[in-house]
Amino acid sequence: MGRWTFNNLALGSVEGLAYLSCIWRHRKVKNILTVSLLVAFLYFLLMLTTGAGRDEQIYARELGLKIRIIKWLPGGETERGDSNRRIFFHETSGRSDLGLRQTCTVESAAKNNPGRPIQVFMTAERLDYSSPWLEVLQNYPNVSIVLVDPRSYFAETPLDGWYTEGEWRKSMYSVVHLSDYIRVLTLLKGGGMYMDLDIITLKSLDEKLLRNFFLFETEEMKLLTNSVLHLERGHWLIEEMIQRLVKYYDPNEYMWHGPSMISNIMSRKCGVKRGQPNSNNCTDVRLLPHYKFAPISNNGWEILFGDATPDRLAQVTNGSYGVHCWSGKSKEEQLKVHSNQVYSVLAREHCPLTVAFGAADFLA
Ligand SMILES: *[C@@H]1O[C@H](CO)[C@@H](O)[C@H](O)[C@H]1NC(C)=O
Ligand SMILES: *[C@@H]1O[C@H](CO)[C@@H](O)[C@H](O)[C@H]1NC(C)=O
Ligand SMILES: *[C@@H]1O[C@H](CO)[C@@H](O)[C@H](O)[C@H]1NC(C)=O
Repeated sequence: MGRWTFNNLALGSVEGLAYLSCIWRHRKVKNILTVSLLVAFLYFLLMLTTGAGRDEQIYARELGLKIRIIKWLPGGETERGDSNRRIFFHETSGRSDLGLRQTCTVESAAKNNPGRPIQVFMTAERLDYSSPWLEVLQNYPNVSIVLVDPRSYFAETPLDGWYTEGEWRKSMYSVVHLSDYIRVLTLLKGGGMYMDLDIITLKSLDEKLLRNFFLFETEEMKLLTNSVLHLERGHWLIEEMIQRLVKYYDPNEYMWHGPSMISNIMSRKCGVKRGQPNSNNCTDVRLLPHYKFAPISNNGWEILFGDATPDRLAQVTNGSYGVHCWSGKSKEEQLKVHSNQVYSVLAREHCPLTVAFGAADFLA
């Protein structure tokens, strides 16, 4: 006994079985097997309860969802092809789903631009399937959820040092700063159109006009915003922004790494003067007036929750591609989906599935 060769097995049923039972009776082997089984069982249990190591795409399929979930990989799908046509969003707070208003934003972009790839970058390790966001977004075949591990996303890029040194983590604006940085990094990796998650899209985004542009945030045209912009892959302005983000970081500056930085670059490199959009002497970047995406100013955000009189609606939609809804200020305000609030009128038209699946009287 104790000899275990292929030949023994080949001896056939009876003798083979005898050997197997003999081995099982062998204490050492038995212990090892028992321990392995126990470990496997515990691992299985851990996977089941925490979802660790779960493949989100497979899991979503098991739940019957047809949403595309991609794991970001260097040189992978999100950066190949014509990424200049993509419309992308970043959720950087680490939450594992999108709120209804954010879902509405993504839905409105997808609904009005069915021929363009829509990418929603999420930094959470696992997704939350209990809220309705994926159920809504799966109805738009060009929407992809892209899971990014920020550490590997920043790795081997000029912004790696900024990310890993981590001074930003202690900033009271850490989420904002990560968001400012990561959107430029995504542009560096492949270009495209970035939008904040609180800008409702009202119509098809003109691919000629909205190519290589910045937007003035206000009527006074003092600052250019980073809440919505487009730059094609390899545009010199992307490199310019990256260099500044590497060079100057101030954890106490709320605006510096976004609007201030862009305005500063445009002033130095293209001669843009405050309030004078025509002073731009760079022919490869366009500056657009605020109303294209911010018909209501930050200070006027309450208008979005007021009555949608015909005049108001005309003011909001006249010539605009989108409406910035200023979630920073407006998130506590109730958005009643069946009311005549400007915001809810827009939501019913441009994100009907979010409104339908939301199953609540207001969108949070
Ligand atoms: C968008 O989806 C359609 C299918 O509905 C597909 O044929 C097309 O290739 C997609 N386009 C992009 C740019 O993702
Ligand atoms: C554009 O403006 C910048 C900054 O004022 C200046 O350095 C540059 O020479 C100007 N370029 C042209 C072509 O006028
Ligand atoms: C719409 O915009 C056009 C051009 O900017 C302007 O002439 C017109 O008065 C606007 N209409 C309303 C209702 O705001």
